Amino acid sequence: MKKIIIIIGTRPEAIKTAILVKKIQEEYKEIFQYKLILTGQHDTMLNRVLDFFKIEPDYDLKVMTINQQLSELTAKIITSIDPILKRGRPDIVLVQGDTTTAFAGALVSFYNHIQIGHIEAGLRTFNKFQPFPEEVNRQLITNLADFHFAPTELNKNNLLAEKVEAKTIHVTGNTIVDALFVIKGKYSVTSNDKIVLITAHRRENFGAGIRNICDAIAELAIKLPDYQFVYPVHKNPNIHNVVYEKLNGYKNIKLQEPLDYINFIKLMMRCKMIITDSGGVQEEATTLGIPTIVLREITERPEGIDSNILKIIGTNKKMIIDTTLDLLKSNKLCNSSNVYGDGTASERILKILAKEL
Ligand code: UD1
Ligand code: UDP
Repeated sequence: MKKIIIIIGTRPEAIKTAILVKKIQEEYKEIFQYKLILTGQHDTMLNRVLDFFKIEPDYDLKVMTINQQLSELTAKIITSIDPILKRGRPDIVLVQGDTTTAFAGALVSFYNHIQIGHIEAGLRTFNKFQPFPEEVNRQLITNLADFHFAPTELNKNNLLAEKVEAKTIHVTGNTIVDALFVIKGKYSVTSNDKIVLITAHRRENFGAGIRNICDAIAELAIKLPDYQFVYPVHKNPNIHNVVYEKLNGYKNIKLQEPLDYINFIKLMMRCKMIITDSGGVQEEATTLGIPTIVLREITERPEGIDSNILKIIGTNKKMIIDTTLDLLKSNKLCNSSNVYGDGTASERILKILAKEL
């Protein structure tokens, strides 16, 4: 049996590894023995995902503090994981994406001479502050990893251009599509309600960015009284406090706690359009074919723009208002796109590991 340790810490990492964990439990239990470490970089937002998928962690390091800062968070994750790796000596550690958990998990595995598999490798903006700190986290993980599971050909080409050895790169699709398809298969929501769904949380949008976003939504809510603006607000206080201060009290703006995964996807399938700065939501919106405005200057997920589903517009208030009004007026329907995967990424990753470890 080969020993795998999976390290996750935030909501999207839980969503994007859930099907892989379930498959190890159900279909690969004769081949792999696994342990799941939660750093606890997120608490409630992550635990809701694990509850939904009925996944129990083996370790919960509970590192989260209110308004945590990057240096302390990184140091705490490294020092808390180190003894577990020293005791467990896995054949490989898997990390997902670009968070502080993923980077610190890869670094401490390297310090312990343990092989690293990077799920969602090769996404790039080539701007080290956008997204911050995720772009640099991703680049650093690439330097540490032994297996690079790239969602798309474009991601693979980014890695090849950085002289990553071709035989270590595997194009698998994004594991988020695996999770999304589980929900989509269970619930066929077809309505096209007058709902605009909003999420925002990026560090580079703290301050002026999130204030502009809120001002735009407030104005849109007045201009479009027959629309509901539904905003599940991220728990980061730099976002949460500004959003509640600026948008509370409008009768057609519904501020709410982060939704559990299933209710969020159901809402996505019902709404007319999405306004977001999230990475995962860009992938899901593209896969479902829901017109989406991306509140960033640049994206590491350009495949959704090429599919004519994502529009990248930044955080300028007028731009957000005008683009939203245009999209709603044209009432344009998008075709769904499989650029981010076909729902078999986790299976592909496990097959590769079963063969190569
Ligand atoms: C983190 C990731 C980001 C990812 C996002 C997904 C880093 C640096 N950032 O950003 O890449 O896109 O998660 O959502 O890795 N909080 C809670 N409860 C929770 C979660 C967060 O109260 O369940 C609050 C805490 O005050 C915490 C703060 O949010 O200190 C920030 O959490 P943190 O993980 O540092 O940043 P995110 O903005 O969540
Ligand atoms: N999501 C959720 N509930 C919400 C908002 C988002 O379950 O209230 C899911 C969403 O479907 C996607 C993931 O969280 O799969 C995206 O996470 P987030 O935007 O926090 O992080 P990012 O993807 O930007 O790293």
